[in-house]
Order: sequence, then C-alpha cells, then structure tokens
Amino acid sequence: MTSEWNAAEYEVLSAPMTGWGANLIGRVLENRPLRGDESAIDAGCGTGRVTEMLLERLPGGTVLAVDASGAMVEAATRRFAGDKRVRVERVDLLQLEVEEPVDLILSTATFHWIKDHESLFGRLAQALKPGGRLVAQCGGAGNISRVTRATEEVMGEERFRNRFEGWEDTKEYADPETTRARLEDAGFGEIQTWLHEEPTKFGSVSELARYLKTVVLRLHLERLPEADQQPFAEAVAARVAAVEDPPVMDYVRLNILAVRGSEQ
Ligand SMILES: C[S@@+](CC[C@H](N)C(=O)[O-])C[C@H]1O[C@@H](n2cnc3c(N)ncnc32)[C@H](O)[C@@H]1O
Repeated sequence: MTSEWNAAEYEVLSAPMTGWGANLIGRVLENRPLRGDESAIDAGCGTGRVTEMLLERLPGGTVLAVDASGAMVEAATRRFAGDKRVRVERVDLLQLEVEEPVDLILSTATFHWIKDHESLFGRLAQALKPGGRLVAQCGGAGNISRVTRATEEVMGEERFRNRFEGWEDTKEYADPETTRARLEDAGFGEIQTWLHEEPTKFGSVSELARYLKTVVLRLHLERLPEADQQPFAEAVAARVAAVEDPPVMDYVRLNILAVRGSEQ
C-alpha cells in the first residue's frame, strides 16, 4: 500500500487533475463513444471527481472505483453513497483482482505513483475483457523537472539534509516508447502513447506551497517533524518561483490508450 493522502485538501486543490481528466474523457470517449452500459474501473479514483465525469457517460453502466488510500476511499464512498452503479474499494493496483473482467479501465494522475509498471499493466490486462480498453494519463518523462530540481536542492540544505539519508524517489515518469513496450508485453494491442505539456500557474509562493504539501511533497514531508514541513514546502515553492514568478509547475502528461488482446 502507498502512504496516506489528505483527501479533504486534495478535493479542494485538485482542479488541475480534474481538468486534465475531463479533457481526456472528452477527447478519447468522443472519438470512440461508449454505449452507456459498460462496466468500468477507475484505477486510483482519489476522492472521485473524475469518476463522477465517467459516470455521466455510463447511465446504465457500473464503475468499480479503487484506490490504495483509506482517506481517499472514504471520501469517494461518501461521494457515491446511494448511487447503485458505483462500488468503491480500497485496493492496491498491484494486487488488483476482479471476479468479472470489465469493458474499460480509466486512470488519471495515478500510474506515476507506482514504480513497477510491468506488474501494473499485467494486473490491468487481467482485469479487462478481451477487447476491453485502457484509457489513462499520468506523469510522464520530464514531468515537473523544475520542481524536482528545487526539491533536491532543498533536501540538500544543511537544516534538512540528515532527514533524507537513503532517500529514493519511488515515482515513475515513463516515456512513451518504454510504456508501449511494457503494454505489448502485458498483452495489449492498438497502443497509442504520447506526451503533452501542461504548464500550471499558481498565484503565489504560499499557494504553490499548499499544493506541493498535499500532492507532490507528501512523501518528503513524512520524513520531517511537523514544525519543518511548512518551511520545507515553502523553500521548494520559493525556488520554483525563482525560475518564473508567479510560479509554474512544469507538468508533462503521459497519455495511454490500449486494447486488451484476446491472447493472454
Ligand atoms: C493524484 S491522485 C489522482 C486521483 C484522481 N484519479 C484524480 O485524477 O484526481 C493519485 C491517486 O492514486 C492513488 N494511488 C497511488 N498508488 C496507488 C496504488 N498502488 N494503488 C491504488 N491507488 C494508488 C493515490 O492513493 C491517490 O488517490
């Protein structure tokens, strides 16, 4: 299981991810529309904002919304209480197993939090019917390199250095070619993978620091005493703002479309 999220803060701050999710659903599902009665999984559903948009296209369908975070699962469970189409479960995607394979897996802003994409794609292939579609977007090669550089510099500062001994980054910002090969190995065909940039502007250093604490620096802050968490996030945000002010997160998204083949 991955570490915890602050679901209430994520709900407030996740406008960028929600917007990218809306664009992905709009673009991809408009090209090849759904019938509306499909079964789907939202893999890494968070608080359920993107799941909600998928449900608009599935009036007669079902969605299994899964996430590894207990706080996210609680928030999504509250959001979909009373909607018989939705089941929310706490599941690590690397352990995903379903009784009935589904027609569609949607995933947004999640895969880069999982290091082992080979195993991940194997699990997803098993959860899809032959001919079932994978539609996903996550951080890709070069994602937030400006923020990563700023974070490494702050981790190296005298006041924080000893807290990060043995630190290893567990995120996977994969490139389209590697991802294509991994998908083929997992039994997918009709593969399309590509990167696009989503530079995202924040109003001020403190606005960016709040966002970084909830999303990007979660795992770093777990290493720090509470009194150091805000100064750490602010120091990273200030270094990002030193490059460009108001600060910009240099997001790069990896888009993934694929269809499960019939041979497994
Ligand atoms: C940035 S949030 C994205 C949530 C939502 N899809 C969205 O676009 O707003 C990333 C989510 O991935 C989940 N996640 C990370 N690793 C996971 C894993 N191994 N299995 C399941 N969920 C995972 C986290 O708990 C978190 O809710």
